[in-house]
Amino acid sequence: MASNEFQPLQGMSDIQAPEIYLWRMMEERARALFTCYGYEELRTPVLEKLSVFQRSLGDTTDVVKKEMYSFKPSKHEIAMRPEGTAGTIRHLAGRGEEGLNARVFYIAPMFRYERPQAGRKRQFHQVGVEATGEANPLADAECIALQKSLLDSWGLTGSKIQISTRGEPSDRKPVADGLRDALRPFEQELCEDCQRRIDENVLRVIDCKNPDCQQIVDRIPSAIEFMSETSRAYLDQVVAALDSMGIEVVVNPKLIRGLDYYVHTVWEISHSALGAQDALAGGGRYEIALGKKAIPGVGFAVGFERAIMALEACGITAGQFAPQGGVWLVSLGEAALAENMKLAAELRAKGVRCGIELAAKSMKAQMRKADRSGAGKVIIRGDQELEKGIAQVKNMAEGTQQDLTIEEILRDA
Ligand code: HAM
Repeated sequence: MASNEFQPLQGMSDIQAPEIYLWRMMEERARALFTCYGYEELRTPVLEKLSVFQRSLGDTTDVVKKEMYSFKPSKHEIAMRPEGTAGTIRHLAGRGEEGLNARVFYIAPMFRYERPQAGRKRQFHQVGVEATGEANPLADAECIALQKSLLDSWGLTGSKIQISTRGEPSDRKPVADGLRDALRPFEQELCEDCQRRIDENVLRVIDCKNPDCQQIVDRIPSAIEFMSETSRAYLDQVVAALDSMGIEVVVNPKLIRGLDYYVHTVWEISHSALGAQDALAGGGRYEIALGKKAIPGVGFAVGFERAIMALEACGITAGQFAPQGGVWLVSLGEAALAENMKLAAELRAKGVRCGIELAAKSMKAQMRKADRSGAGKVIIRGDQELEKGIAQVKNMAEGTQQDLTIEEILRDA
């Protein structure tokens, strides 16, 4: 059987030890931090009606148009979630009033049918938060501060926060008209996609990666220049609040973000270790209308896979978080093994990490396993020790050894 029979699908990965220890550290610290900020965990299904994503992310966005895993098993077309905000808001919309002022977080796999490359996967994982509530620059600043604290809690340094605004909803038309008029003279020089985007969704021209399109974008006024005074003042207030918290951001009017639900503040965090796919995290304020009423909120999501690449560049590796310590039980003979099984259960019930060889193996083979397990102590018992009611306890770091009774071992555990 060819070895790739056992590989996961392209763009997807098995996450195994030791790497998993880095994931667990990140998840544990995220949960602890979010709890301090009053967020509750939410787990929504992987599958949602396709319309949940079309109506929130926007049906002309790349994610919805090109990257959805969708299918129609019965009446409704359904899709695997490409991000966490839409499903979260679908859930909160069902909670009525309470959903309009909620703080939730999620740690979950997401699916986008993109061309895989370093840092770009088809199944990837996000840790994200959503805080619903009326537009308030302080809420946006607090959300960015939380995201920064999250990266700090992982030990990630050297990331850069870029911020901009999509303006209030009433700015949409003047911004689109202004950009269209400014781009029209250069229409023929734009890439094929952007020639279509001018009329379909002109903001997408601004964040097109094509260098020719970028050159043209550099020559026209930025989207912010077509926005109302209120929208600009809102961005200034977010930046001022961040400044007073000592959080450095760079205002980049060319930052658009690829999803249509955003209003007012948008931001992205990048890291130089990531190369072409340098966005580590993204967020912003949004208004999402799945029912009659739009739900306002602000949130962010950090990509785990990209955060791990950045952490590794900072010298933070999975091995540092692998379980260490505890004990390993070595049994010489059947009777000792039976007694050690009992002892193992008692130690484990006390929460002690405890390994034991269940097959009859030589002392040397058992010691090798003990060593590999990273156990701090090895407890050795044979017939003689059983007779005396003791065990030899070897301290692996110090290389010392002493005889202790089982009561003493359990007491010290
Ligand atoms: P996003 O910018 O599309 O925003 O994704 C957030 C992060 O997910 C990215 O910065 C990146 O780290 C990671 N990511 C996205 N696509 C991939 C991929 N194909 N492979 C690996 N990592 C990827 C959102 O998803 C919004 N829901 C964020 C948000 C929450 N805005 C408001 N609330």
